[in-house]
Amino acid sequence: MKVLVIGGGGREHALAWKIASEKDVEKVYVAPGNGGTAVEEKCENIDIKGNEALAAFAKENGIDLTVVGPEDPLASGVVDVFENEGLRIFGPRKDAARIEASKAFAKEIMVAAGIPTAYYGEFTDYDSAIAYVKERGAPIVVKADGLAAGKGVTVAFTEAEAEAALKDIFHENVFGEAGSSVVIEEFLDGEEASYLAFTDGKTVLPMVSSQDHKPVFDNDKGPNTGGMGAYSPAPVVTDEIFDYATEKIAYPLIQEMQRRGITYKGIIYAGLMVTGDGVKVLEFNCRFGDPETQPVLSRMDSPITPIFEACIDETLNKAELIWSSEPTVCVVVASEGYPSSYEKGRPITGLDDANSIEGVKVFHAGTALKDAKIVNSGGRVLGVTARGQELGETIENAYKAVERIQLQGMHYRKDIGAKALRRLKG
Ligand code: AMP
Ligand code: GLY
Repeated sequence: MKVLVIGGGGREHALAWKIASEKDVEKVYVAPGNGGTAVEEKCENIDIKGNEALAAFAKENGIDLTVVGPEDPLASGVVDVFENEGLRIFGPRKDAARIEASKAFAKEIMVAAGIPTAYYGEFTDYDSAIAYVKERGAPIVVKADGLAAGKGVTVAFTEAEAEAALKDIFHENVFGEAGSSVVIEEFLDGEEASYLAFTDGKTVLPMVSSQDHKPVFDNDKGPNTGGMGAYSPAPVVTDEIFDYATEKIAYPLIQEMQRRGITYKGIIYAGLMVTGDGVKVLEFNCRFGDPETQPVLSRMDSPITPIFEACIDETLNKAELIWSSEPTVCVVVASEGYPSSYEKGRPITGLDDANSIEGVKVFHAGTALKDAKIVNSGGRVLGVTARGQELGETIENAYKAVERIQLQGMHYRKDIGAKALRRLKG
């Protein structure tokens, strides 16, 4: 079987690695891939962009299955393009991808489906938006409606911060079309967790729970990033919360979509806030999380391609997954200066040394292979992932591996998994 993975981050390296580990898989192309997928067994990077060009490649090269990592191609209809060409592809069509591509649409679906979420209002002009902020008061959360590369959300602790965010959106037009409307919602206080599941539009097959670390510095300080680390399972997600997420969040979502004539196939990613007042959905994504995929797939002990196939064929009710009970921890190594600007092209060494630690796999994100050397090419550079018998030791192993890696100016959070450890110790 030949597989194509679209994307080039840490999530896509984890997907390509997992897919390539299966004996039925002979080749995994990654478009565009990164320095990790360039050297991963059975994998080959291809420099092809655009939905039509990717579909043409899949056709010409006899690709049996395509898996999409990021939201942008999904939102622009890559699945529709492939399906129109008779190609097999895993992911939501453009109409279903709106669950991530429009926050206002997601809120409308949640309200219609009775999915618990923050109170909100939707606005298309500055004056009515600011009037709502004044009426509600701070803290309050301002979200640009469309895809904004993870930068569209402002958690405003004062009215002035909300006002500044709204000025950026409506007056300065910083998010372009993505900011033509905003969702303003109630601030929720609690602990976040990620719930990921496969769906074929009828059945939901959940993965194991995980938790991301969005702020750049330890103890959740500093600006938000794409994610500085993750671990699985997340003890804040009790069995009860996990089942609640499947029954009261994921199923109502696909059923409400179906009522609107939309078959939701692919990944359901629910960003949860576990509050004193129950679990609420912060957002839906229509794809695997990054970096959550790295620790989650590291616990998947059965093959993943049959699950992709079952979603495409709408036979997920017959599919099964085997998960390890061992915890996994992924520490993200970032470039100097990230999440602000950073220099690229710096050499990275010590990777083999890090990988040689029992249970450790270093997934690449923003790296490239240049003149047979690995260099940084993005803000989040590596996802150093460990799997072990017990959480404390697994965290230690992940950091032991990180310390074997050299990249000038690199930084990382020192407290990945600490919240879970505290919770487990009561
Ligand atoms: P989103 O892209 O909607 O998940 O928002 C990005 C981040 O902003 C989330 O991971 C939360 O940390 C924070 N956030 C979003 N919505 C809320 C909310 N209603 N209350 C508190 N924090 C929020
Ligand atoms: N880890 C957050 C995301 O993938 O959106």
